[in-house]
Amino acid sequence: MMARLLDGKAIGARLRAGLAERIATLSFRPGLRVVRVGDDPASVVYVRSKDRAAKEAGYDSETILLPETVAESELLAVVRRLNADPAVDGILVQLPLPKHIDPQKVLEAVDPAKDVDGFHPVNAGRLAAGLPGLVPCTPKGVMHLLAEAGVKLSGARAVVLGRSAIVGRPMAALLLAADATVTMLHSRSRDIAEECRRAEILVAAVGRAGMVKGDWVAPGAVVVDVGINRLPDGKLTGDVEFGAARERAGWITPVPGGVGPMTIACLLENTLEAALARRGKDELQPNGGVAEVQATPEQSYGHGPGLA
Ligand code: GUN
Repeated sequence: MMARLLDGKAIGARLRAGLAERIATLSFRPGLRVVRVGDDPASVVYVRSKDRAAKEAGYDSETILLPETVAESELLAVVRRLNADPAVDGILVQLPLPKHIDPQKVLEAVDPAKDVDGFHPVNAGRLAAGLPGLVPCTPKGVMHLLAEAGVKLSGARAVVLGRSAIVGRPMAALLLAADATVTMLHSRSRDIAEECRRAEILVAAVGRAGMVKGDWVAPGAVVVDVGINRLPDGKLTGDVEFGAARERAGWITPVPGGVGPMTIACLLENTLEAALARRGKDELQPNGGVAEVQATPEQSYGHGPGLA
């Protein structure tokens, strides 16, 4: 079997076009501020892409550049100013930050209502508790991809490889909210290959090039590769051995052009949600804004009599 490609570039572009249409009907422009500290080459590229996509879709977007040497207190003051600015709906502080700055302190300084990254403990906690809130962009983008592929999540065996706060943990929470049976694998897990082979949906988010071998993929499985790893020759590659996995999977995301473009589209989606919620037009969905996944009542939070 040759897997079908889950084309995040095309799906993300459609999502952004839909957001642009909605924004054109509003009486205001949602405001996004991205803060970049220093000149990390990957961050320069990512932040530029975010700003360009936001402007294209009609957002009021600005990038705030601070020097690598900025004091933590100064960065915190910038965040507080953005919290207080009524024109700002979404705040994103690009990671990684320089070593002298505590990223947790900075993320916790962002107003949870403007936390379009979904990294504030209030939003992480709301997601873990099954409550509405702003959801991290990358796992939210994965949920859109699964919905586009028509993947039935209720009761499906899903395996999440990696337990980062940014991807693995929120990914597992979203899949659980959609009634999948979720297994999380991490650096201390045993029998990783065997666990992966049981997955109907396999999400790899470990940041190790080609770690997931082709024969870890069950025939017909949906393989979502969140990894973006740079090879010595400069090429980008995912966490999955793409060629071998593609021969077994039913669906697979390419790298680049899979999850990456969805992350940016979901940042814009979160910014619109934050803008509407701040103005009292609350559109936050109970499972974090991925309305399509929650099409039927039995897929919602109504737990059955047995396991919760
Ligand atoms: N660095 C790499 N990806 C991300 C992201 O999604 N958000 C932030 N804030 N920083 C990142």
